[in-house]
Amino acid sequence: MQIFNLGMIGGGTVGSGVVHALQVNGDLLASRIGVKVQVRRVAVKALDEPRPYEIPAPLLSTDWKSVVNDPEVHLVTELVGGTGLAKEIILTALKLGKPVVTANKALLSAHGEELFAAAQQHHATLYYEASVCGGIPIIKALREGLVGNQIHRIYGILNGTCNYILTRMKREGGEFEAVLQDAQKLGYAETPPDLDIDGIDAEHKAGILGSLAHGFWINPSEIHVEGIRTITPLDIRFAEQLGYAIKLLGIIKRSATATTAGAPRIEVSVGPTLIPKSHPLASVEDVFNAVFVNGDIVGDTLFYGRGAGKDATASAVLSDLADAALDLKMGTKHRLPPFAPHALKGAVIPHPEVCSGHYVRLSVADRPGTLAGIATIFGELNIGISSVIQPEGHEGSSVPLIFMLHDSPHGAVQRALDRIAKLASVKAPPVRMRVESLE
Ligand code: HSE
Repeated sequence: MQIFNLGMIGGGTVGSGVVHALQVNGDLLASRIGVKVQVRRVAVKALDEPRPYEIPAPLLSTDWKSVVNDPEVHLVTELVGGTGLAKEIILTALKLGKPVVTANKALLSAHGEELFAAAQQHHATLYYEASVCGGIPIIKALREGLVGNQIHRIYGILNGTCNYILTRMKREGGEFEAVLQDAQKLGYAETPPDLDIDGIDAEHKAGILGSLAHGFWINPSEIHVEGIRTITPLDIRFAEQLGYAIKLLGIIKRSATATTAGAPRIEVSVGPTLIPKSHPLASVEDVFNAVFVNGDIVGDTLFYGRGAGKDATASAVLSDLADAALDLKMGTKHRLPPFAPHALKGAVIPHPEVCSGHYVRLSVADRPGTLAGIATIFGELNIGISSVIQPEGHEGSSVPLIFMLHDSPHGAVQRALDRIAKLASVKAPPVRMRVESLE
């Protein structure tokens, strides 16, 4: 059987997971694709760094350049992370015409356009299944399984750490900070945890999914991002009473109207979102990820699984290695390109123009005229109120007042809340979250 040698850069959690997965299932993979992928060398930062799976010592090297440049290395994995060295590694391999498999969402988010252009220029391919939602084959699903669809909507629970924290807050009524600390102790949240809880990790993933689905590389600066730091057990409880669960949701929606040049206009955002408790996404709990995709031909689809971890991510890397090895075997580079820039004039809709439902919680003085003053401001900005609740049983200098707003532009709602926050009867900064029916 034909053998292709793999040069791996990065032998940490994911890298050693890939070595292990190939030890366990390399023969199975070979029997399925008709060629064997064999680890030739693994470049690491330090030979003795701790790793979850042992890598045979003779494979190890600390010189990534010699691994990438080795003429016997046919394909390369970049599993070091970050946006500096990783970019250099990928570009070096692509220039040599070697296919590269990466799990690096931050790098793709920042430099995807440049990297895919380099791949095309050098007749090589850059695969990235492991960059979004670990073990869920969502890149392949969009790239191949749903290639015949116009993608209308993608909703993703894209960050396992946030989903774990929100799940625990809901189950136990715990405060954000306490649950976060526990998540860190259990090894779920990184230290510092900012990339996860501020929504940046999900932003990278939403950008990649949106770019793939709509054919132009999305600049991360155009993605509206909110994290989960400000969510309180009170909001989770009120949302539940109203029939909703709160999830950190990546949202990618194609507008019904195109740009004047006929290119797609899409919304891409990440933020805490109230979704109906009856929707399957609401039951995705703990560290699990899920991606809901609606295509014009297929209708609704849902993908669920582990979004991180050495084995789940290795599974995604192996799937890319299979594709890359098949390309080499068949000499069919760009058979179905990992990213096809098919709508380069596409545009991201500015967030203030994006319309959705909203949940607003105010802390107000419980006195006559308070509700009227707030409702007047919403009315003046043409924002419809679908329900108002002042839950019983709250006493003191301020009480909660919850508004559910009809679909309204985010910019108008923000302007209304800026005015409402200045009212003497409003005792704390307003809390606002998006509401999505997911229909
Ligand atoms: N830290 C991420 C998460 C996994 O919690 O889902 C890697 O993207």
